[in-house]
Amino acid sequence: MGLLIKNGEIVTATDRYVADVFVKDGKILGIGRDLAAQGAGGEVVDAAGQYVLPGFIDPHVHMELPFMGTVSADDFESGTASGVAGGTTCIIDFCIPNRGQSMLEALASWREKAKKSVADYTFHMAVTGWGDDTAAEMQRVVEQEGITSFKVFMAYKGALMVDDGELYRVMQQAGRLNAVVTVHAENGDAVWQLQRELIGKGDLGPEYHPVSRPSSVEGEATNRALMMARLQGATAYIVHMTCRESVDALVRAKLEGQRCYGETCPQYLLLDDRVFDQPDFGGSTYVMSPPIRPLHLGHHESLWSGLANGMLDSVGTDHCPFTHEQKKMGAKDFTRIPNGAAGIEDRLAILYTHGVASGKLSLERLVELGATAPARIFGLVKKGTVAVGMDADIVIFDPQGKAVRSAKTHFSRADRSIFEGFEVKGKVERTIVGGRVAFENGKLMAEKGSGRFIARKPTHFARQPEVKA
Ligand code: URP
Ligand code: ZN
Ligand code: ZN
Repeated sequence: MGLLIKNGEIVTATDRYVADVFVKDGKILGIGRDLAAQGAGGEVVDAAGQYVLPGFIDPHVHMELPFMGTVSADDFESGTASGVAGGTTCIIDFCIPNRGQSMLEALASWREKAKKSVADYTFHMAVTGWGDDTAAEMQRVVEQEGITSFKVFMAYKGALMVDDGELYRVMQQAGRLNAVVTVHAENGDAVWQLQRELIGKGDLGPEYHPVSRPSSVEGEATNRALMMARLQGATAYIVHMTCRESVDALVRAKLEGQRCYGETCPQYLLLDDRVFDQPDFGGSTYVMSPPIRPLHLGHHESLWSGLANGMLDSVGTDHCPFTHEQKKMGAKDFTRIPNGAAGIEDRLAILYTHGVASGKLSLERLVELGATAPARIFGLVKKGTVAVGMDADIVIFDPQGKAVRSAKTHFSRADRSIFEGFEVKGKVERTIVGGRVAFENGKLMAEKGSGRFIARKPTHFARQPEVKA
């Protein structure tokens, strides 16, 4: 039958104009004025006065992730429900094998968990060590499993962290496969030493988490990851960037002609380390890595200007919630607090309010950061914009809407929100995933399992390695 969205203002990364959009069989089939004939007999939505945006893509989430002795609180169903309520129609989760586990075995378990999704999904494949089979497994993942991006952790020593030799090999093989390497950039050895020193002094509360991970350890690791990528002609994507040193490293690499990308998240733009002042272990809600930074050192300005001037490429969320009960695992030792927080439902409204409405970003740039760029970087070729032939992933957004962000009302299972009480402008009225209304007037409409796995092909041409061994 199809669905006709009438009279909305379509916003892409490059254009804004009023038109109707007709969708059928999961695709956008028509854009123009007076598409009534095409829409005859189907559902009609009047979007006058509202924005018609491409479905947002979250390139960085962790649903049902076994991590730090527990499992992140949202599974693929509750996490993607939270996503569609916030205008996200596609997620990229991280499939993370245990050290020594085969990637294919881990992938089978991630694919099983993800079947519950109400949004579309794909994965980045984490490489958590280097063995005899790793190069071949990476090749299989790209060429047969439709996963064209990898992940390395330069932190979480003793768990997920890779050493420099392993990082080198991952970049080398990814370069050969034209795959993207996403990187958690923090110097894990330095963090480990700092943690031991703090514990030795009896500094055990959540407020010491940021002390153990200063911005210099992130800046150094970002520089090192980019150097390794450059050596091998690999494409690097630095996730959850929080600080000036890290942005500076990325800018240097870009200005030297390296193909590399940087992502930040709303929490690093909006929050500062005063969040750790809260009593009764309240600071634990904000424990994530890299940490939320102090206000006065220029980190926030550096991130905002990076987003505005094109040096940063995307905004993800790093959605990885834990309940307060789970956070209490670290009640006597901050290094045991599960790292992460919820954010997938907040991203669009928070960025619209603090980016667009406050004049820091244009609406087109917001669309680019949250939808078009993640699609382009990660090869989601049918997503990221509103155009004929693309997947019918659409958000109808009311710029006049108002809301207050709260854990009491969000769809995530997180029992605390890092944006609790934030007043936001603009409201997601409807979210359409693959031509079906998944969220409408505050209600979840999607059926469990309605999201699809999206297979990808490499979209980055090979670069010449700087060295040839
Ligand atoms: O604290 C965080 N960021 N938790 C999720 C895992 C990661 O490092 O992205
Ligand atoms: Zn990380
Ligand atoms: Zn993450």
